[in-house]
Amino acid sequence: MKPASSGAQRPNPIRAALESSDVVITVGSGGVGKTTVAAALALRAAMEGQGSLVCTIDPARRLANALGLQALGNAETEISTATFADAGLAPRAPMRAMMLDMKRTWDELIERRAPPDKREKILNNRFYQSLSSALAGSQEYVAMEKLWELRTQRDYPLIVLDTPPTAHALDFLDAPNRILDFLDNDASKWLLTPAMAAGKFGLKLFNLGGSYVAKTIARFTGTETLQQLADFMLNISGMNEGFRERAHQTRALLEAETTSFVLVTGPMPERLDEAIYFHTLLQQNKMRVAAIVVNRVHSSVADSLWEEVARLPASAQAKFDQTLKENDHLARQDARGIAKLREACGNTPLVLVPRFELDVHDLNGLYETSHWLWGDRHLDVEAPGQ
Ligand SMILES: Nc1ncnc2c1ncn2[C@@H]1O[C@H](COP(=O)(O)OP(=O)(O)OP(=O)(O)O)[C@@H](O)[C@H]1O
Ligand SMILES: [Mg+2]
Repeated sequence: MKPASSGAQRPNPIRAALESSDVVITVGSGGVGKTTVAAALALRAAMEGQGSLVCTIDPARRLANALGLQALGNAETEISTATFADAGLAPRAPMRAMMLDMKRTWDELIERRAPPDKREKILNNRFYQSLSSALAGSQEYVAMEKLWELRTQRDYPLIVLDTPPTAHALDFLDAPNRILDFLDNDASKWLLTPAMAAGKFGLKLFNLGGSYVAKTIARFTGTETLQQLADFMLNISGMNEGFRERAHQTRALLEAETTSFVLVTGPMPERLDEAIYFHTLLQQNKMRVAAIVVNRVHSSVADSLWEEVARLPASAQAKFDQTLKENDHLARQDARGIAKLREACGNTPLVLVPRFELDVHDLNGLYETSHWLWGDRHLDVEAPGQ
């Protein structure tokens, strides 16, 4: 891989996607840079004059601070002109940021949708409390729910949605269906029978096999909990239709022409395999993948640096030589991975972001990242294999 070059104005898929989208969703495996890319894109959009909101999930504390997100909760916070000025930036449109608070969003959903006489009962129900804070998949569902709310009730030109680190690819696409499955499942009907509520046939619950519902319910034991679960089911049963309708609407929003996905990955082999799998799933699900961002790519060593090391005294040379060789090895390995990814996902453009020496934890770091995403700078990958 050649070192960074700059300036050339190539057509850039991310810039094009942001210009034609009002929702951009970053997806990918854990730790690859989804939150960083989401925030960098929202910042860049604002810099270019497209007002933006980035909805982050569990951002690193320093990044949250840089975005003015000290407080928990779902509040959308506008980054002040003064904060931008401190970083030497002057966006042409406002940028807002928020941290998605899972528990709060669940509660808001119940407050909005449950019949008034049921609300308190649901909110105080122990099973509901566990469900809303711990149920696998609830994070993904809540992220989608929040996106829908933001899209329909606010007027942001661009919403960039970060997604949670998922153990299973695209859990969030499936999340509305899983909630429906949960509400529809026979288990709920069994539970509504008084005998089951009393725990008499409690053990039967655990014979539901490995289903999602069974796994969830299996985490709760004891008659009291079953009672809580039965109460929860009773109180929530009237809401199924609302959930179902919303699941369809959310799905339509994800498939809309004005929604784009940015798939983020790292260049190492295991990440790339996950990315290829993600990519296939997204396409099968009719989602528009604007680009695959390969983040933290090692740049190869510039010729000038090799020459500089060659001029060092022999004693120092060995050490530097070793470091440069290791770096070059990593760069070649990354180039091979990128070639594999290009082959597997041929119809989707790749955008490469180099590995920076430091974490991206402030507005300047985000803006620097955006240069690579936006195509102001680019890494050229050489044919691998040497
Ligand atoms: N190109 C880069 N160079 C160096 N550090 C980076 C780069 N991109 C991201 N990072 C750092 O890597 C860490 C992980 O990034 P980030 O939090 O964006 O990943 P994530 O995919 O959102 O993780 P999670 O799945 O846990 O939510 C952060 O500390 C971030 O600052
Ligand atoms: Mg993240």
